[in-house]
Amino acid sequence: MDLTGASAVVIGGTGGFGSATVRRLVAAGATTVIADVRDDAGKALADELGEKAVYAHTDVTSDASVAETFRVAEDLGPVRAVVVVHGGGGAGGRLLGRDGTPVPTELFAQSIDIFLNATYRALSIAAASIARSEPLDSGQRGVVVTTASIAGLEGQVGQTAYGAAKAGVIGLTLPAARDLAPVGIRVVTIAPGTFFTPAFGMSEEEAYQRFGTAIQNPKRMGRADEYAALALHIVDNDYLNGETIRLDGALRFPASPKKG
Ligand SMILES: NC(=O)c1ccc[n+]([C@@H]2O[C@H](COP(=O)([O-])OP(=O)(O)OC[C@H]3O[C@@H](n4cnc5c(N)ncnc54)[C@H](O)[C@@H]3O)[C@@H](O)[C@H]2O)c1
Repeated sequence: MDLTGASAVVIGGTGGFGSATVRRLVAAGATTVIADVRDDAGKALADELGEKAVYAHTDVTSDASVAETFRVAEDLGPVRAVVVVHGGGGAGGRLLGRDGTPVPTELFAQSIDIFLNATYRALSIAAASIARSEPLDSGQRGVVVTTASIAGLEGQVGQTAYGAAKAGVIGLTLPAARDLAPVGIRVVTIAPGTFFTPAFGMSEEEAYQRFGTAIQNPKRMGRADEYAALALHIVDNDYLNGETIRLDGALRFPASPKKG
């Protein structure tokens, strides 16, 4: 899909995956809205990238906030590409603590709210925005890329809520693509394995030794730009739709992250 003259939105746009995706969307010619809650980081990234990047404070847990961000994007050009890649939630914790007490349902629900409900919110408001644009000659209007995790397929110890939320994102993909087919909007999900981000608080090699040794090939953690490259390929390739793509170096999560 040609992004010249179009706008794009990255929700979680200052994060590891998000900022790498913003850079690639801008390079591909889209005026890109960096949607995030981290104002300083968002403004710094927009300043660095110039007039093709715009920061909009966006709280993905709020309908009004997300809708306002898409109003901003529509003013910049028809919205053609949206990448939903925010973080902000926890894993949930072991179902039963050492004393036998279960993780409270409220804690479970918090992760579902940020990872699954907010992904639905972003996807649905994005779809309404893209649907307001004129279709391209191909009949296509745009694409929404969402972010799951391989934990949505093989969640590890302590990941009840995260695994369930990411499984929900995977489950959302095909019916959303089917619902949006009549308006020419595609929906594709990326399920990353283990990627190195500054959030690990250690060097890449140390993080690999502690959490990445089950990765098959390449024998290293993933890099954010590899996520961004796949996101841009999905935007470009009209025939990818309704699918979840693993991006994991053939990693299959063992039960515990430290016993890979
Ligand atoms: N890094 C990995 O190894 C990995 C693996 C699998 C899946 N993922 C998934 O990818 C996504 C992003 O991961 P990342 O490593 O880039 O994380 P990150 O922490 O670097 O970035 C997440 C971004 O989301 C933003 N955010 C948090 N709460 C928000 C809110 N309420 N509204 C809007 N933005 C909000 C943060 O400010 C941050 O910029 C997450 O959904 C994560 O579960 C990451």
